[in-house]
Amino acid sequence: MGKIISIINQKGGVAKTTTAIELSAGIARKYPEKKILLIDLDAQKNATGVVLHNIKPDKDETVFSFFQGKKPDSRHIKATYLNNLFMTAACIELVEIESLLSSSLDGFFRLSEALKAIEKEFACIIIDCPPSLSVVTINAMVASDFLIIPLQISKFSLDGIQSIVDSVQTVQKRYNANLKIMGGLLTMFDERTSISQAMTPQIKKLLPLFNVSIPKSVIVEEAHLLKKDLFDYAANHKVTKAYEDFCEEVSSAVGF
Ligand SMILES: Nc1ncnc2c1ncn2[C@@H]1O[C@H](COP(=O)(O)OP(=O)(O)OP(=O)(O)O)[C@@H](O)[C@H]1O
Ligand SMILES: [Mg+2]
Repeated sequence: MGKIISIINQKGGVAKTTTAIELSAGIARKYPEKKILLIDLDAQKNATGVVLHNIKPDKDETVFSFFQGKKPDSRHIKATYLNNLFMTAACIELVEIESLLSSSLDGFFRLSEALKAIEKEFACIIIDCPPSLSVVTINAMVASDFLIIPLQISKFSLDGIQSIVDSVQTVQKRYNANLKIMGGLLTMFDERTSISQAMTPQIKKLLPLFNVSIPKSVIVEEAHLLKKDLFDYAANHKVTKAYEDFCEEVSSAVGF
């Protein structure tokens, strides 16, 4: 059975999408025999734009269908530039999900129900979440085995992390006892700054951190503007190497 990993943080711009793209591409490249699915749950469609290049799926071919209770079919699973990497796109209408599901008893289970039909097909499903702890993100937590939480020290707040941990505990208690926090990933990280040195031990009190942290560099923006992953755009760069080590840590946590 494939493992489902969601990339969450209600803070904007902390590298959720970057991490989702590089983790999917990194694992797909490392294990060409394994099928990987990347799901974009964010109405901003950033991951969709980078990975699907110029393909623009109709709303009915995106993850929106899953929230309407439709079963996934081949139209929802798009081929990408890598043979073994597939993608379910997002659409702008995802912003309507909150009101669409507000009166629905099974509102938190729509994504999990849909993924049950396809999880056997994939070794790993990676979900890029929007910057909120909305019903969409709760659907991702209910559907997942693991959560990865990208954290940027400059945007970090102890309160922010505490609310993620509280939400995770509520989901574990009520909806998904199987859910685990795999770890926090420090992104755009500069270990030389005094704020980094001061905050890292504080964060570790709230949640486990990956051994690797991701340095800051413009190559991330450059690669994604050109709709390339880092492994293709700058194979030997320190940020690429860091994401490679991160993929290694995730691979061993999911038992690859
Ligand atoms: N290691 C890095 N070094 C420099 N810039 C980075 C790095 N990682 C991500 N960025 C840049 O930071 C910005 C935010 O990244 P990203 O879109 O991945 O964050 P996000 O958490 O998904 O944002 P949102 O909350 O809006 O969905 C982007 O412009 C991205 O190119
Ligand atoms: Mg994003």
